[in-house]
Amino acid sequence: MKHAHDSHDARDGRRAHDGPLLHLLPGAGDEGGPDLLMTGIGQLCTLHVPELEAAGPRRGTGLGALGLVDGAALAVRNGRVLATGPQSEVLAALAQAAPVGPRTRVVDAGGRAVIPGFVDPHTHAVFGRWRQDEYERRVRGETYLEIAAAGGGINASVRDLRGRDEDELCALAASRLGEMLSWGTTTVEIKSGYGLSPDDEAKMLRAARRAAREAGLDAVLTCLAAHEVPPEYRDRRDQYVQLIVDTILPRVAREGLADRCDVFCEPTVFDLAQSETILRRAAELGLQLTVHADELEPFGGAALAARLGAASADHLIRIDEAGRAALAASSTVAVLLPGTVFTLGLKAYAPARAMVDDGCAVALATDFNPGSCPILAMPLILAIACTQMRLTPAEALTAATLNAAWALGRQDVCGSLAPGKRADFVLLDGPDFRLVPYRAGHNPVAGVFVGGQEIILNPGP
Ligand code: NIG
Ligand code: FE
Repeated sequence: MKHAHDSHDARDGRRAHDGPLLHLLPGAGDEGGPDLLMTGIGQLCTLHVPELEAAGPRRGTGLGALGLVDGAALAVRNGRVLATGPQSEVLAALAQAAPVGPRTRVVDAGGRAVIPGFVDPHTHAVFGRWRQDEYERRVRGETYLEIAAAGGGINASVRDLRGRDEDELCALAASRLGEMLSWGTTTVEIKSGYGLSPDDEAKMLRAARRAAREAGLDAVLTCLAAHEVPPEYRDRRDQYVQLIVDTILPRVAREGLADRCDVFCEPTVFDLAQSETILRRAAELGLQLTVHADELEPFGGAALAARLGAASADHLIRIDEAGRAALAASSTVAVLLPGTVFTLGLKAYAPARAMVDDGCAVALATDFNPGSCPILAMPLILAIACTQMRLTPAEALTAATLNAAWALGRQDVCGSLAPGKRADFVLLDGPDFRLVPYRAGHNPVAGVFVGGQEIILNPGP
């Protein structure tokens, strides 16, 4: 059997491995055999590389290290990864510590590849109607900001969402999240931000939580009351900032409606001082921070995120050298959203190569929303990231799994197939992870497992 450590190029997902390729949960013998054993995996991308684990999110050449094993097996117990490695070694280790028994379900992958479930760390997945009318207007030449100024954009979705009840929003979101799952996403971040009042923001976050539970995905929720200034506050913008700080965020924290707080930090929306006020209040309330930063203008949003210790700074299309340096020197993950640039038909993508070369920890997300990015499929995001931002397929996979988990503070739970993590993984319909970005537009998912439970499983070739 040819093992991954035969090859040494970090950029194609393979690295020299000093240690063994077998990984077994410590104390594996304590609780009986596996519930699930997947054998015949042509290529297993564990993303688990112990020597890189202590260094935080993956940067530089580490971004291309996929912990690849050819001819592999994966064992799951109690919803968690029990063992991964070359099949013969996994079987031998299990025979010693946790023998396969009658209750073990064995699934043959038939030579196909397995990757961790995608983690999508930036979505606006709760909304009412789609905005295909604005799409057509942009195709005909209007810009996103012109459409917003004429009453479209975020406020169009706000008007729409305020008129719908929680059950309806939940049903709409659950069906979209189910679609995400069918494209391999197993953990998703969901933002509020189309309510923009205390009750409507709360309604949105409750709908998001319920929808994720119904769809069977793990969700991280973010309060984005600072997405836009609602029409009733148009002429008293600072009072809306005060409403967020005095009323909305304390309620979100008190009622446990969200885990994080986001701000759309742009000169035309919330300026640096307003953004900082909101983010500092959120931090006081125990919420994790994230920022929509440097999307339309190089404005210092990334540097602000880094300075406040935000988990992520997102978009970054217009980030400058100072912003890149600030992120590189911080633990803030740079979440890139190339589907938005693609959908808006813009020419310039975030400078992903420069960011990787500077040492930023880069992640990928969809930005799924009814305005600037109706794409919810992570495989298509990987395709755009490779061709338009020149990430390698291996870098893109890390950015969409392990680094995306770091962006959500969920690195101990998901994002890689390290022993002990939740067994969230995707069986691909081909033998090589590079088929995912290469076959843009194709759904490469043959099976999805969340916590070791099969959600989708198509028969083998
Ligand atoms: O991330 N940047 C702000 N918010 C969204 C757009 C949302 C909308 O147009 O409804 C974004 O691109
Ligand atoms: Fe967004």
